[in-house]
Amino acid sequence: MIKLNVNGEERRFDGDPEMPLLWYLRDELGLTGTKFGCGVAACGACTIHVGGAAMRACQTPVSAADGQPVVTIEGLSPDGNHPVQAAWRELNVAQCGYCQTGQIMQAAALLKDTPKPTDADIDAQMSGNLCRCGTYPRIRAAIKQAAGLTPKAGQGDRL
Ligand code: FES
Ligand code: FES
Repeated sequence: MIKLNVNGEERRFDGDPEMPLLWYLRDELGLTGTKFGCGVAACGACTIHVGGAAMRACQTPVSAADGQPVVTIEGLSPDGNHPVQAAWRELNVAQCGYCQTGQIMQAAALLKDTPKPTDADIDAQMSGNLCRCGTYPRIRAAIKQAAGLTPKAGQGDRL
């Protein structure tokens, strides 16, 4: 029996411990904000937090989350106002949106560990999260805004 805490709720899982956490979150818990992209840890669409660190849910077995807090986009903030989410909205980062929950979860993990990231820090932490719509400039700007490194939208550069 695997015990997890998902978005603050205690859960028990007695299925295949090697099943990807992504299937458990989406298919068993209905937390469909976490997306399936590549399935091989190469795109970042499925990024969640396990034990406070960004992880690719498609390549993380449920067993790896035993006893660990798991946070998905649905649990990142009680009201959707995590600083990263607020900056994403203010700068209209998303285009099609498919990659964006993974981007936001990766960015939130980055800012937890590095509250004032440099461009190099952002590159190092975000380079594994792909966006086929090419929203990378807005992602970078939103991370800096969430970190308080740039003026609020409307006071600074147009993107
Ligand atoms: S679906 Fe997990 S990294 Fe692409
Ligand atoms: S917004 Fe479309 S893939 Fe990133």
